[in-house]
Amino acid sequence: MKTLLAAVVFCTLVLAGCTDPEYPVTFDETPYAFSHGDLPAPELPTDYALTVQRVTLGRTLFHDGQLSRTGTQSCSSCHSQAAGFSDNRKYSIGVRGLPGTRQAMPLINLAWHSRGLFWDGRSPNLRDQALHPIRDTVEMDEVLDNVVKKLQASKLYREQFTRAFGNDSITEGRIAIALEQFMLTLVSADSKFDRAVQGRVQLSESEERGRQMFMREFDPTGKIKGAECFHCHAPPFFTNDRFMNNGLDDDASFVDLGRELVTGKPTDRARFKVPTLRNIARTAPYMHDGRFATLEEVVRFYNKGVKSSSSVDPLMHFNLKPGLNLSVQDEQDLVAYLKTLTDENFLTNAIFRMP
Ligand code: HEC
Ligand code: HEC
Repeated sequence: MKTLLAAVVFCTLVLAGCTDPEYPVTFDETPYAFSHGDLPAPELPTDYALTVQRVTLGRTLFHDGQLSRTGTQSCSSCHSQAAGFSDNRKYSIGVRGLPGTRQAMPLINLAWHSRGLFWDGRSPNLRDQALHPIRDTVEMDEVLDNVVKKLQASKLYREQFTRAFGNDSITEGRIAIALEQFMLTLVSADSKFDRAVQGRVQLSESEERGRQMFMREFDPTGKIKGAECFHCHAPPFFTNDRFMNNGLDDDASFVDLGRELVTGKPTDRARFKVPTLRNIARTAPYMHDGRFATLEEVVRFYNKGVKSSSSVDPLMHFNLKPGLNLSVQDEQDLVAYLKTLTDENFLTNAIFRMP
């Protein structure tokens, strides 16, 4: 009797969770081998180090429709791997079959984003962000207590939470941590662009011309073609992680006030997060409202369609007047370069899918 009691106390205190005789308990903190190619190491959360068990739990949750009210909509319904974890729709469709008001963002290299998530930056970090779509009435429309109840009813989940956190207590905090851990592992650093930088492949002539334009400033004499893209979409991340207005609309036609909705500052009007261009060939349509269907349309916009407004970024100066003066060939070269940012390994890697 004494030994049994001792065993129970031991189990409860040391191997928390093993009091449930239904499943075996092993709390394994196997460090997750975070590989980031030639990208600089990011600052990862220090309170919960990435472990294989927590990342695996996060992956399961990311693909599970139980996080939604109807049981049908998972994070991956709108963030699909083949589309760079975006959804190739103008506006995503939520549990009620109704569209939202913004384009689903790709989930790529988020471990390096520190200035806020969503197009308007309203969420400070992935752990906070992860619970927004669950509660969002258009997206998953579920109450967190219900999600917790549904997961608690599953032996598989009780086991997975035990492996990940040491006991089978399922809380919204732990759900958020696990989702955060999975999203931190979505690293794309193996595109043709990366391989060319490493000297393993060569860009074609057109891609190389596009690269040079992307990386150059506008030359008013017209001798050298420069498209100014690097200011905001600088390699290796192809985003500066800031909120900017790239001149899609003028003051009279703003529909979505973007960053101003969060800060209340008119200077932030229609500023949106500068998106990464990695895997951009797969994440169409483009911009926060999915207004452009193709990369050709996007490049044409930057060449001669940028509009002036009270908050348009000063870096758009040359796009406004006289326009970048790119030829059709120049536009095609820029698009060719953008296509070198596709990372097939990232888009197909089985580690991001459910086995
Ligand atoms: C109905 C479609 C839909 C579902 C379901 C959905 N998302 Fe999203 N996601 C979006 C849209 C749309 C945005 C942009 C919203 C905005 O900016 O207001 C977004 C933005 C994000 C971002 C911000 C990325 C960045 O670069 O700032 C993250 C992270 C994210 N979602 C993760 C998740 C997770 C985790 C889940 C599941 C718990 C989820 N999403 C479920 C449509 C969806
Ligand atoms: C002043 C900063 C800035 C410059 C310069 C700039 N961009 Fe952007 N880019 C943005 C912002 C901000 C967005 C998102 C705007 C929105 O959705 O409202 C964006 C969006 C995009 C998108 C769509 C991404 C997506 O996921 O929907 C593409 C493609 C793109 N830019 C390519 C380029 C190219 C090519 C150039 C050079 C010709 C360029 N950008 C120059 C700020 C900039």
